[in-house]
Amino acid sequence: MRPHVILNAAMTLDGKIATETFSSEISGHEDLKRVHELRKEVDAIMVGINTLLADDPRLTIHKIPTLSKYNPIRIVVDNNARTPLDARILNNEAPTIIAVSQKAPLAKVRKLKEKVKVYTCGEDQVNLVKLMEKLKNMGINTLMLEGGSTLNFSMLNNGLVDEVRVCIAPMIVGGIKAKTLVDGAGINYMQDSIKLQLKKKYVLGKDLILEYIVEH
Ligand SMILES: NC(=O)c1ccc[n+]([C@@H]2O[C@H](COP(=O)([O-])OP(=O)(O)OC[C@H]3O[C@@H](n4cnc5c(N)ncnc54)[C@H](OP(=O)(O)O)[C@@H]3O)[C@@H](O)[C@H]2O)c1
Repeated sequence: MRPHVILNAAMTLDGKIATETFSSEISGHEDLKRVHELRKEVDAIMVGINTLLADDPRLTIHKIPTLSKYNPIRIVVDNNARTPLDARILNNEAPTIIAVSQKAPLAKVRKLKEKVKVYTCGEDQVNLVKLMEKLKNMGINTLMLEGGSTLNFSMLNNGLVDEVRVCIAPMIVGGIKAKTLVDGAGINYMQDSIKLQLKKKYVLGKDLILEYIVEH
């Protein structure tokens, strides 16, 4: 058993989720509101450590007016406990879980534990299957995966993603080292690709929103 996982991202027409210099302001105003509406509907939001280091996100609901103080649980997938002690995700706006592997330095893990929950889950790398089981057992039924491209690949390749929602902005940036929606090791043959079904498409301001179901 695991949570229902929605991968959400904003990308340029050429599939980049950031430039080579890690600039990643892609979504228009309306799309940012859509993302924050979606955050309201999920129990947790998860990102990879490189996204945290590049963007220092708060991962809270703050772009839309809301009466409730609800914020989903924030989860960082961080093998070596590299999360900086002054990262905004460690603030008290919402609960946070850092998922680390057994190779994470204990001294740093101890420091992080003074601020948030730390789960050790996997030997050399965070075991995402086990992490998802653990999150489900603690009552997380829906999880929004907010990148980046390395974690997106690992989650998709492990069959852990149920929906993909993308905002395609009318921008092109190129750059061979610029991150795309899904990077990681990749799949060798098209016949083995992860297959999706288009569920919904609409225009939002200048952007195009596509929503897919992942076939399992
Ligand atoms: N446009 C958008 O919607 C959007 C959204 C999110 C991010 N971004 C951009 O994406 C970029 C970051 O993407 P990224 O691909 O470099 O990094 P990432 O996916 O955010 O983080 C990947 C890192 O997570 C750690 N990790 C731990 N366990 C893992 C596992 N089982 N599978 C995969 N990763 C695991 C690894 O680092 P360690 O080994 O060090 O732990 C890995 O290198 C940033 O520039 C950010 O701005 C854009």
